[in-house]
This record gives sequence, C-alpha cells and structure tokens, in this order.
Amino acid sequence: MEKTVTYIGEKTQVSLSQNADDRQLIETTSGEVIAKIDVLYPVLHGNFGEDGSIQGFAKLANIACVGCGILGSAVGMDKDIVKRILRDAGIGVADFVTLRKAYNEDMNYEEVSAKLGKELFVKPANLGSSVGVSFVADENAYNQAVEVGFSYDTKVLVEEKVTGREIECAVMGNEIIEASVIGEILPKSSWYSFENKYVDEDGAKLAIPAQLTPAQAEKARNTAIETYRLLECRGLTRVDMFLLADDHIIVNEVNTLPGFTKVSMYPKMWEAAGLPYQQLVTKLIELAIAEHQKMNALMLI
Ligand SMILES: Nc1ncnc2c1ncn2[C@@H]1O[C@H](COP(=O)(O)OP(=O)(O)O)[C@@H](O)[C@H]1O
Ligand SMILES: [Mg+2]
Repeated sequence: MEKTVTYIGEKTQVSLSQNADDRQLIETTSGEVIAKIDVLYPVLHGNFGEDGSIQGFAKLANIACVGCGILGSAVGMDKDIVKRILRDAGIGVADFVTLRKAYNEDMNYEEVSAKLGKELFVKPANLGSSVGVSFVADENAYNQAVEVGFSYDTKVLVEEKVTGREIECAVMGNEIIEASVIGEILPKSSWYSFENKYVDEDGAKLAIPAQLTPAQAEKARNTAIETYRLLECRGLTRVDMFLLADDHIIVNEVNTLPGFTKVSMYPKMWEAAGLPYQQLVTKLIELAIAEHQKMNALMLI
C-alpha cells in the first residue's frame, strides 16, 4: 500500500465526501480534496470515540475502522450490559445492582449492603478512567457516590467489593483471537483511582508479565478471549480482571479503545509477548481492512 501522510491543521474544517465510495476528506471552505482515507484509526476515549458513534460514522462513510464495530463498542462501553452478558455465559463478575434514576434511585444503603456487603463500589455505567467511581463503606458516602454517579449517567452500578489482584490482558483479532501475556496493576492505595492513574506519577506500578503460575496465566488468557468473543469485539480490546486468592477470575470491565501511548498497558503487554509497537499497529490496521472487506462482501439489502 502506498503511504501518504497528510497533516491537517488543528483548525482546518474538513468533511467527508457525500459519495460513500470516494472516502475523500475535503477541506470545507476550499472544497479541495485533502486525502483519501484507507483506514480510520480512532485514537479516542469515552463517549463518541468508544461507544459506537465514530464507528457508525465510519460505517456510513464506508471506511475501514480500527477496533470494535458499532455493536462491540456500544456493548463494551456499558458496564451493566457487559456484566449481564458475561454472567449469562457463566463468566465470573462482581455481584451488582443497577440503579436507574427513573425507578430505583430509592434503593438505599441498607438494602444494597444487605445484598452486596458493606464495602461497595459505585460507578456510572458508561464512563472510564475511574471518573465518577467511588469506594464507599457507609450510608453517607454511598448517598454521595450515587449522586456523583448520576451526574455522569442515567444508570449507576453498585458492586460488591472484590478482593483480588488486578490483572489485564491485551486481546486482538477478528475470527482468530489472540491474547497477550498478562499484566498486573499494583496501585499505591487500595484501588486504582483517578488519582493513581493520572495525577500521582507513582500512583501505580505495572508488572508485565504479572507474576503468575502458568496455569493462572492460561486461565486469565482464556477468560479474556472468551469475554472478547461474547462481547462481539473486533480488532482490539483490553480485558481487565481480578484474580482471587482461590484462583477464580472475575472480569471487571473491557476497554475497546485502550490507552495506546508507549507507556500504556495494551502495547506493553504485546511487546512482552514479542510483538513490537509498530508491528502491532500494522496488524490492527490490517485487521480493520480485513473486517471491512468481509462485511462489504456480504449481501446487504
Ligand atoms: N467491584 C470492585 N471491587 C474492587 N475494586 C474495584 C471494583 N470496581 C472497581 N474497582 C476499582 O476501581 C477501579 C476503576 O473501576 P473500573 O470499573 O475499572 O472503572 P473505569 O472504567 O473508570 O476504569 C478499578 O481499576 C479497581 O481498582
Ligand atoms: Mg478500569
């Protein structure tokens, strides 16, 4: 493939050609064609980037897009839906209740803690980066945490506190799904908060590969692959899990567009598995093109 790199200034307004088969990026004011797009590589997080919106945009424009499609992205973004799918398939997840503003906001600490224990995690269903996530152990903190959760989402999850090691696996593929070595997050404080992730430079240590027995690592990898399959992921996803003292694995969440800087877990775990950064990116682009071609070959009515 011919490589063309076109840098577009930050303030340049661009639009996509109306004709889906053109795949042309056009400068809005001049009408000039700036580039022809082979693949869209969304380097984004959160709403619109990770929830299926940009993936839908790419689909409408008939452009191959790196990573999960509309379905996998939307499912992976919603921690409530993820948990229900995994639970149905017999994969371990933390016990939880889902609060919705409209009908069970009145579920109070007493009721929830009778079901899930006194120590709880409260989180918005569709968010990331530990924003809006709270650990609570009393009524006051619980009420505040629920309010914070509802300021970010119309759906809030309350989960039992899981005591285990936080491990992660980088997964990649379309039909053939591969898993990396397992990595471990060792947060400085009791959990991997926003502070530990982004504010405090020494907030967490990463162990890649994690110190696990071969059997533990194999089980984690298999759980990650099964999760990926169940959630209809494509391209790439990072599966975050807890390893319990009795070797049980609980899936905490998935990240369909995981952090991708040179110090991020996803590329580091592949690097440790023998796949360097550049080759990883190439593979992800090839997977996007292959998936796009496969879908385009289907009869659409
Ligand atoms: N049920 C739980 N039990 C124990 N720790 C949890 C639980 N849920 C979340 N955590 C802690 O909070 C962090 C952030 O929660 P997470 O569900 O991963 O949200 P985010 O999508 O914002 O990363 C996790 O990395 C973990 O340290
Ligand atoms: Mg997380």
